[in-house]
Amino acid sequence: MPTPSQHADYVTDQVQQHHHLFETSLPMIASENCISPTARRLLASDFHDRYAEGRPGKRYYQGLEHIDNVERRCETLAQDLLDAPYTDTRPTSGTTANMAVFFALAEPGDTLMTLDTDSGAHISHARIGAAGVRDLNIEPLPDDPDRLTIDEDAAADRIRDIEPDILLLGQSLFLFPAPVETLAPVAKEVDATVHYDGAHVLGLIAGGQFQDPLREGADLLTASTHKTLPGPQGGIIASTKDPEGSSEEEAFTKRLDKGVFPGVVSNHHLHHLAAKAVAFAEHLEHGEAYAQTIVDTSQALGQALSERGFSVLCEEHGFTRSHQLAVDVGEHGGGRDIAQLLEDAGVICNMNMIPGDESPFNPSGLRLGTQELVRRGMGPEHMDEVAEIYARVVLKGEDPEKVKGDVANLVDAFNTVQYCFDEKEAYRFWELA
Ligand SMILES: Cc1ncc(COP(=O)(O)O)c(C=O)c1O
Repeated sequence: MPTPSQHADYVTDQVQQHHHLFETSLPMIASENCISPTARRLLASDFHDRYAEGRPGKRYYQGLEHIDNVERRCETLAQDLLDAPYTDTRPTSGTTANMAVFFALAEPGDTLMTLDTDSGAHISHARIGAAGVRDLNIEPLPDDPDRLTIDEDAAADRIRDIEPDILLLGQSLFLFPAPVETLAPVAKEVDATVHYDGAHVLGLIAGGQFQDPLREGADLLTASTHKTLPGPQGGIIASTKDPEGSSEEEAFTKRLDKGVFPGVVSNHHLHHLAAKAVAFAEHLEHGEAYAQTIVDTSQALGQALSERGFSVLCEEHGFTRSHQLAVDVGEHGGGRDIAQLLEDAGVICNMNMIPGDESPFNPSGLRLGTQELVRRGMGPEHMDEVAEIYARVVLKGEDPEKVKGDVANLVDAFNTVQYCFDEKEAYRFWELA
């Protein structure tokens, strides 16, 4: 039996091995990214150890002078980044941000209209997830399986018919912009709040790509801060309503505030707050170039995979306008087996449902993301090489072990974190810290 301290050594060793795994693999899970060395250092700071419920100036604890300063700076940076008068960076994840909004703006039994999860929505939009915790009645939005988005005309009819309390737009498999501009006015006709979930695409939006939901008519946006926005694990809420504007706008933002605290968060994660502030500052400086390169890289990968014979969805629409691609690997054994085969070869991605699939446990799709490859220095010019790795494993049946060595060689040249203030080795620096 290991002693307690041997258990601790075991865990440390596993973490080191995990770093080695990601140092030698192609990281292509669309919801992940790699934070900057500065942000990673701040996660290990004493901010982690403290309590600060509420907002700066309205606390329940002492010792918060510097934490208050950081929190104020974090909100200012978030407001700049999203050009929004109201932000709340306290939610501890995208799901928590969604829960806070449901808690703030809806009563049990109210109606939320959103896509089904098998059409690309997130589990927090579902009855079995956060929306169900608030006891919301879910009404599905009609989808357009051709572009993996919403069928705008059918959705407009359905919104007028159902009159939801919240219209929720935004997806986990999110290749093309949501029709915010078309549907927000329809939602207004029936007095529904327009909630845009930009968990995946926050960094693209802040970098001027994909779409600009707050300008297109959304009342508020929720998101994760660790996907295309390459910050620490966390969530954010932003709104066009001004806390210092009309009494209606002020009341709206107060409700959002209370949805977070005391609604669904007591102590927010202060070390994450510090790391979020740095990530927002980095994105203000580098976000435009980063977001543009991500979209260019995804489209280049779609083209390179398609040229090799892969069935990449939405080819006729240019594959994607985000960091994601969806690939149908049903004829090659299905998403589960192919994702495993790729992992054996050092390519880390995930299986995903695509239109026509019924089982989330054995879907025929793969979802690929390019945001972390770009973060580590790749661009469109490297996508032929990446696509060839997929082809060798999936189409040519090469031994994954053999391919794995080539993957490690390829990524060795892309092991520093880019688009931040202190480019350093993505993983090795951590071991030296
Ligand atoms: C559309 C959408 N909303 C919310 C979330 C939840 O985000 P988090 O993992 O930060 O809780 C996700 C996660 O991938 C998502 O895809």
